[in-house]
Amino acid sequence: MKQTKWWKNAVVYQIYPRSFQDSNGDGIGDISGIISRLDYLSELGIDVIWLSPVYESPQDDNGYDISDYYAIYHEFGTMEDMEALIREAGKRGIRIVMDLVANHSSDEHPWFVEARKGRDSKYRDYYIWREGDRNQPPNELTSVFGGSAWEWDEESGAYYLHLYSRKQPDLNWENADMRRDMYQMINWWLDKGIGGFRLDVIDTIGKVPDQMITTNGPKLHEYIQELSRETFQHHDIMTVGETWGANVDNAKLYSNPDGSEFSMIFQFEHICANWSEDGKWKQGKKDFVKLKKIFSRWQKELWGKGWNSLFWNNHDLPRVVSNFGDDGRYRVESAKALATFLHGMQGTPYIYEGEELGMTNIHLEDVSQIRDIESLNMYEEYRQQGWSHEELMAAINGAGRDNARTPMQWDDTDNAGFTTGTPWIEVNPNYRTINAKAELADDNSVFHYYKKLIALRKSDAWKDVFMDGTYVPFMEEDEDIFAYTRELGAKRLLVIGNFHDVERTVTLPYAVRKILLSNYQTPQINALQATLRPYEALMAEL
Ligand code: GLC
Ligand code: CA
Repeated sequence: MKQTKWWKNAVVYQIYPRSFQDSNGDGIGDISGIISRLDYLSELGIDVIWLSPVYESPQDDNGYDISDYYAIYHEFGTMEDMEALIREAGKRGIRIVMDLVANHSSDEHPWFVEARKGRDSKYRDYYIWREGDRNQPPNELTSVFGGSAWEWDEESGAYYLHLYSRKQPDLNWENADMRRDMYQMINWWLDKGIGGFRLDVIDTIGKVPDQMITTNGPKLHEYIQELSRETFQHHDIMTVGETWGANVDNAKLYSNPDGSEFSMIFQFEHICANWSEDGKWKQGKKDFVKLKKIFSRWQKELWGKGWNSLFWNNHDLPRVVSNFGDDGRYRVESAKALATFLHGMQGTPYIYEGEELGMTNIHLEDVSQIRDIESLNMYEEYRQQGWSHEELMAAINGAGRDNARTPMQWDDTDNAGFTTGTPWIEVNPNYRTINAKAELADDNSVFHYYKKLIALRKSDAWKDVFMDGTYVPFMEEDEDIFAYTRELGAKRLLVIGNFHDVERTVTLPYAVRKILLSNYQTPQINALQATLRPYEALMAEL
């Protein structure tokens, strides 16, 4: 019998714990809050929760700076809460995937505290140090969060590397003891019965800073294969690597069906499609044809050779309905169309908290409203380069990470039902109309559409087509329409939609036999002709 990996048919839901549900009124989401919402997730039909980091941390980067991998961040709860979450989720058939930050630790991690004591410290070599002059960093490497990637350490009189904030010193994967300690910790978590790991910026662990190499270093896959062999391969879990530097070629290594590395990766080509050469703060024109072609290439290239993750959103990205859809008049239709386009493809779909409600970006006007370290640093840096306050806020409102981090909108009571206290970050004022309670009560809501989409993907009739069917795009040069079929044996699934606000009539390659899912009440299909209204999308049997 053909063995199918369970995660090929799974749908993952990402939770950013700080913003999901507060249970004790301190304004910060927590693990008990998540437990109280498991029935909601079960109703949606998801199989896996990817939990952004919940480990002990000074929260310089909201938990992506870990000071103790074996403990739970006290404001999120206790280890007992975490075990209860694993258990309670398990009862509902939901597995917990933890977020593992292995590229760096917090500067408050005992390893680093020891390491900076001096060159003889046992942990010195767990990090990346370079000798030098305090006024002259070793080279021009920059941090993703701005400024030099090298920080002068007063205590030991040397530079250490930090590709992210100075409170996130990079770990040295050259060091076998560090790797061994890391595997031990990973196995400790796996023994608790978690469903796997999402590996934070894992493509930078093979860095060669002296040659200015960060992603895709020469020993990267050697390290990942060892990591996988020492840990993951002993368990029936899913793993997903976050790899901004991935391309279709190395993706075949990362997600090799032989299981030697990860189950899958997050690649970001579609996310970066509209960025300028200078990165995300300067966006170019939205090029829909380019976007479609990127997806098509990944779909075709990885078929049979690897496995895709399908995502529009995460805690680092603006809300998809604001970014690629229409968060005004056609918010509901465009949110559903975006979901249709993505979930029809081969791969494991990810839903980021609130995406299933069609949550939108927030509009900030003042620096005091910003919480994200990346946006705060960017504001300072670009201000010095002459950007005006208005330009800065426009860039942050368009691409900043706080857009994803505003509290989950549960209902129309104060603070959207997220907290009875003062939320750590502002709630999007549109929660009075956009919230889970209203969505659950409306059969035509974005929530119910996602629910149907998930159910269709898992249905006996169609699950094999979603999992293994070939991907055949058509109308590839069309600037408004996305269209492809998924084909397996005699079965043919059509996925089609209009990405714009003008009605279009298109010719289908085969006659529609049955509409399976549609975001308008009455699809207008007549033999081979389909008329698609603004953001109309559907799936059908051909
Ligand atoms: C990843 C995380 C992001 C974090 C960074 C550093 O990109 O998704 O939130 O800031 O790594 O850990
Ligand atoms: Ca709390």
